[in-house]
Amino acid sequence: MRAGSFLTSFALANAHVGQLPSRLHASSQLRMAPGVVRSASKRARMVAPVDSRFVTGDVGNNVTPYIANLVGRNLHRIDSHPLGIIKDKIENYFNSLEGQSFEIVDDLDPLVRAQECFDDLLIPLDHPGRKMGDTYYVSRAGGREQSSPDDMLMRTHTSAHQSTLMREGKTAFLCTGDVYRRDEIDASHFPVFHQMEGVKLFDPELVGGAMSKEEWLASPGCELIAADLKKTLEGLVDELFGPVEKQWRDDYFPFTEPSFELDIYYNGDWMEVLGCGVVHSNVLSNVGLEDRHGWAFGLGLERLAMVLFKIPDIRLFWSDDKRFTSQFKAGDITEFKPYSKFPPCLKDIAFWIPDNFEPNDFFEAGREVCGELVEKMELIDEFTNPKLGKTSHCYRITYRSMERTVTNEEINAMQEKLRVRASDLGVELR
Ligand code: DAH
Repeated sequence: MRAGSFLTSFALANAHVGQLPSRLHASSQLRMAPGVVRSASKRARMVAPVDSRFVTGDVGNNVTPYIANLVGRNLHRIDSHPLGIIKDKIENYFNSLEGQSFEIVDDLDPLVRAQECFDDLLIPLDHPGRKMGDTYYVSRAGGREQSSPDDMLMRTHTSAHQSTLMREGKTAFLCTGDVYRRDEIDASHFPVFHQMEGVKLFDPELVGGAMSKEEWLASPGCELIAADLKKTLEGLVDELFGPVEKQWRDDYFPFTEPSFELDIYYNGDWMEVLGCGVVHSNVLSNVGLEDRHGWAFGLGLERLAMVLFKIPDIRLFWSDDKRFTSQFKAGDITEFKPYSKFPPCLKDIAFWIPDNFEPNDFFEAGREVCGELVEKMELIDEFTNPKLGKTSHCYRITYRSMERTVTNEEINAMQEKLRVRASDLGVELR
């Protein structure tokens, strides 16, 4: 997730650190044009699961079959996959450091309670990240409008496991997993991506125990933890990128105080790498650890892997094309060699939007109808007709396969389905 955007929206979050669709779009709508051959696993991913625990059809359930089919791929646990390679490198780095060893946690269920994903982390009930427009809910007690700690959702960040793992008594851990966010569609945003969370608690003898928040924030213990955090993460980026120029910026996260973000200068650009901070005293007291202190960080694996392996499109991580998968070897960061890029097919769609129009609903429809064939959905024109009192949006959709040339007929058929799905969202096609 894009750390800096935490307060306002999850939108830019995706490659960093990361719709009420109708439920009727099962296999018939997703069937490929005649003559199109797909690999078995790709075909499987295009078909709605019959009884997914993520897709219930109840009010407040906005997980689509497309998303449900991506759960359990565990790309981060494949040691010859770029995401697995980065994960291993980071884990090895942390466990080469002197002191506490970090427990590796990488197999937790992505379906969590809002309590874990938000409340435990002091994220308020009205935070934008809790909206149905931003997050995939399996059940939502308060319906679309109201958020509650009992909601069940696809974790939007791996921080969702911090409190649970600390409650279990873990004091140093690295927790990696797939995270889910409803978002825009382009080369660096995919609704599922991967994050790693790191937490380290310190010996109270060294940093102090229970004290008031003001005392804590002004204490040498708090300073020591922030310094250890920064030194540790600087070492991590040097390990991954070689010695690079770095810049720390103050940031805000509800669950850390103080909070920081680390940027590095790499390949001629400043790039945001991670968010982190000193764990908020209330997060610790909520798990019964009022006498403990520590640090936490979160980073996005795709963002790192795209830069380090020079992978140009986030959809490639999900590819089971041998030309992709066979390029990588456990333990090695190697430059991705692009195979021919197939030509895109562009289509525009224009409509009058209803008052409560949620662009993420439309993007979700794009994913649901077109799967990985949609590369980008971009708003290219917007205007309001004062006489009609209506606003029009025109989106340009880039269709492209990573694996073959798409045919105009199949894209026309998809575009037609997308138009139907868009009108289900209450827009008036133009
Ligand atoms: N969960 C945050 C995100 O998704 C990243 C993060 C920031 C994790 C600060 C942390 C932290 O543990 O301390 O953007």
